[in-house]
Amino acid sequence: MRDYKRYLITAALPYANGPVHLGHLAGVYVPADIYVRYLRLRGRDVKFVCGSDEHGVPITIKARKEGVTPQDIVDRYHAINKKAFEDFGITFDIYSRTTSAEHRKTASEFFKTLYDKGEFIEKSSKQYFDTEAQQFLADRYITGTCPKCSSEGAYGDQCEACGTSLNATDLINPKSMLSGSVPELKETLHWYLPLDKYEPWLKEWILEQNKHWKPNVYGQCKSWIDAGLQPRAVSRDLDWGIPVPVEGADGKVLYVWFDAPIGYISATKELTKDWEKYWKDEDSRMIHFIGKDNIVFHCIIFPSMLKAEGSYILPENVPANEFLNLEGDKISTSRNWAVWLHEYLEEFPGKEDVLRYVLCANAPETKDNDFTWKDFQARNNNELVAILGNFVNRALVLTHKYFNGVVPALGELSDFDKETIAEMPKIKAQVETNLENFKLREALKSAMDFARLGNKYLADTEPWKLIKTDEDRVKTILNISLQISANLTTVFEAFLPNTTKKLREFLNIEAIDWDSADKLDNIQAGSQINNPALLFEKIEDDQVEFQVQKLQNTKIANEAECAEVEPQKENINFDDFTKMDIRIGTILEAEKVAKTKKLLKLKIDTGIDTRTVVSGIAEYFEPENVIGKQVSILVNLEPRQIKGIESQGMILMAEDADGALKFIQPSEKVKNGSGVR
Ligand code: MF3
Ligand code: ZN
Repeated sequence: MRDYKRYLITAALPYANGPVHLGHLAGVYVPADIYVRYLRLRGRDVKFVCGSDEHGVPITIKARKEGVTPQDIVDRYHAINKKAFEDFGITFDIYSRTTSAEHRKTASEFFKTLYDKGEFIEKSSKQYFDTEAQQFLADRYITGTCPKCSSEGAYGDQCEACGTSLNATDLINPKSMLSGSVPELKETLHWYLPLDKYEPWLKEWILEQNKHWKPNVYGQCKSWIDAGLQPRAVSRDLDWGIPVPVEGADGKVLYVWFDAPIGYISATKELTKDWEKYWKDEDSRMIHFIGKDNIVFHCIIFPSMLKAEGSYILPENVPANEFLNLEGDKISTSRNWAVWLHEYLEEFPGKEDVLRYVLCANAPETKDNDFTWKDFQARNNNELVAILGNFVNRALVLTHKYFNGVVPALGELSDFDKETIAEMPKIKAQVETNLENFKLREALKSAMDFARLGNKYLADTEPWKLIKTDEDRVKTILNISLQISANLTTVFEAFLPNTTKKLREFLNIEAIDWDSADKLDNIQAGSQINNPALLFEKIEDDQVEFQVQKLQNTKIANEAECAEVEPQKENINFDDFTKMDIRIGTILEAEKVAKTKKLLKLKIDTGIDTRTVVSGIAEYFEPENVIGKQVSILVNLEPRQIKGIESQGMILMAEDADGALKFIQPSEKVKNGSGVR
């Protein structure tokens, strides 16, 4: 790979409307921090920038709910998250925020530059307007009935019941969440970035020049590009954000995804007066660390903005990660299904490195991964304690026991010594290559191999047996073991910074640079080492059970709350009810609908006839397990086309608090076609 003069590493700016959790840490901030620490260790010129993303509609919604201002919300979470990152040892050079004056100015000027260059399209469109509240409505501020699944309370951008993404104008019976009134469509002017215009360039830049990007990133970009790019609005009708710096644009602000990535630039400006070197010199390498939901913004939209501006460099790599789940479920702030960093630090004080280790070892690099407390315990006990901690502890304790803590001299080397020593540069090179290629899990595994090497060396040489008969041999063995320990402080530095610092203190040595970290002269014979303590402690079953129980309680609380919250619907009269023809039928055949996750195609004996029904239950039932079951079916629902199949009716399901589905069945078998009243 070409040599760069300097590095600019960015980590996605988290929204300041909630605390950061384990998923964020695993996907973005731990990997970025490991990479940055590694670069610093190699003596590279690097700036690591991040900050709070403080605009956007969800922040205004949260503020409204709490009866405070959006500024109050972002002030609160900016402080919380800044501290959580600090406590956790994420070493940003700056943690800024997008409500800073510098950012306002930078984003505003950026827009103005593109505007003046004629890079935007100006277009008028119809948007919902709340005549009572006298303002345009963001999609999230409109609710109504989902046109796809008919459930109430779908939002203008998405139905959370069936997951379909929507346009506000698709909603049936739209209502404004501000005033409750029925919104009206009204013309409004906005600025669009014509992504279609950049398509040929993006094709060349991403699909040809950036073939080295991770397959998940490259693949997502390719499917966006293949689907054809459309102009994207970069402004919104909203009263929270950076005003559009154009005459007559009152009440309009920059779209949050336009201003947020510019936050990387503003943060660098706030950090150093040399900021342009990092942003405008081809010898600088820019890397964006993000989660997979941010790929299109960092790989397609922001680069197009930078390209349109003309004086900036583009990201050289965007090593986006997939998601981390928690105990089998998607992490969710609103359902409190998360491990909050501040809670972890309270409950596992001094164990920042353990979590860093587990998150890196489990990083969702190629697919979504699951964090479980059992795995957390196992990795701590079987890897950190049993391999790394055990090896280092034995080397230190034996040196104290046999030589009063004075590092013994190296004598003649056996063949096995030479083999062991020859392994060090090889393993170190693997750590290096993997880190340079953003394979952090592999890199960590290789680092662990370095400790394994030491463990195996002691196990095979057995100095505790030799001490009676051959003290000179033991001196050599312990010297080599201490050299390996010393080298481990550098090999693990980027991953476990607190541990390596401790280990250096035990060994009484200064930091060793990367190039020397496979040599045999990093701790001097005759020098005194300090009294060691354990580097890692075992995590006991009851600690793990406590955490699992805590999550279990969350689940129970959520279910209780969900059961409470679903309000009763409007009254209907008896006629409305009797219009529905619900029967009992039996499922005769079932198969998955190709290319969908949720849909099963069912053949059902309704007593009246045999018909096809497409039902969204595939996530909860295997086709072979539903055949022969009796179910309730609404038979006079107008037939609908679903994925090209005509669905003639609808199966009724009971939906659990956590979304799990169960059939509505008669308590005993009845004749197909029996009515349900
Ligand atoms: N706030 C966004 C999120 O959490 C990330 C913004 S990254 C930036 O998904 F590039 F826009 F800053
Ligand atoms: Zn829906």
